[in-house]
Amino acid sequence: MRAKVGSRPERPRGPGRASPRRRAEAAPGETDRRGKTRAPEGEDSGERLQKFLARAGIASRRQCEALIAAGRVQVNGQVVRTPGTRVRPGRDHVRADGEAVRAGDAVTLLLHKPAGYITSRSDPQGRPVVTSLLPAAGLPRLFPVGRLDWDTEGLLLLTNDGELAHALTHPRFGVRKVYHAKLKGHPTPETLALLTRGVVCDGEPLKALAVLPLHPTRQNAWLAVTLEQGRYRQVRRMCEAVGHPVLKLIRVALGPLRLGALPRGHCRPLTPDELHNLRAIVAATRPSGPGGEPVTGRRGRVLRTSRTRERP
Ligand code: URA
Repeated sequence: MRAKVGSRPERPRGPGRASPRRRAEAAPGETDRRGKTRAPEGEDSGERLQKFLARAGIASRRQCEALIAAGRVQVNGQVVRTPGTRVRPGRDHVRADGEAVRAGDAVTLLLHKPAGYITSRSDPQGRPVVTSLLPAAGLPRLFPVGRLDWDTEGLLLLTNDGELAHALTHPRFGVRKVYHAKLKGHPTPETLALLTRGVVCDGEPLKALAVLPLHPTRQNAWLAVTLEQGRYRQVRRMCEAVGHPVLKLIRVALGPLRLGALPRGHCRPLTPDELHNLRAIVAATRPSGPGGEPVTGRRGRVLRTSRTRERP
């Protein structure tokens, strides 16, 4: 059989053909010639330091790499500057900027945020915060993913997974959000077209990806507004700019997630399907271009990724 161009010729595998390195080190789960058994991958072989830090909610995986390279992370009392270093959760002592880091399992909850709550863990003015709506016990420290205004309700994720939060909120990745907005008055089709063509608010160009009229009432219009941008009070500012202030705003979708019939003020864990779909977003936003960047289109959506530099 001819070998494929560019591939190494096939060699018979088996104990007699193992390379000297393989013979000395043994594969995960095998016993080497010194009689030591290497732990199976994913168990005691540990995980990469940057992944461990991101899972603990310190920052995104890439930001954690920078933290490590800057000498701000210690493992068992030693400064470690190599991001790929493997650590064993629960066994190795990891510190970031001197603070002990513990990474439990990633937890992500979907909350129906009511109006009248601040998207934060705490508020210096003592106003109600979204984390006060979560069950009091049994949860790690969760952070809101992005923000909804005090007077906006709807789908809000809370997680301790820094990498997931980064993938869902970084403008470069353009994860879509859908809002239902109740407007004062009834905008004409020409006025609605302005929202997708783009308006300038306080010198900032803002535009919606799509605007669909929903069920109008006698006094008001309801719109479904899809955004890829995520600027401060974007829907409200845009609608105000075209002469139809927003009276009520509800986020009904974030990427593949839907608010559905979850009652206001309630939260739920994600379903396996939802987690699977979110993981696909995170995988697509990992660095993979020639300069380590995701390959993105003009609007910043990930167009393709190469798996040649795949990370765990
Ligand atoms: N646009 C707004 O105006 N407010 C939000 O909370 C989210 C999007």
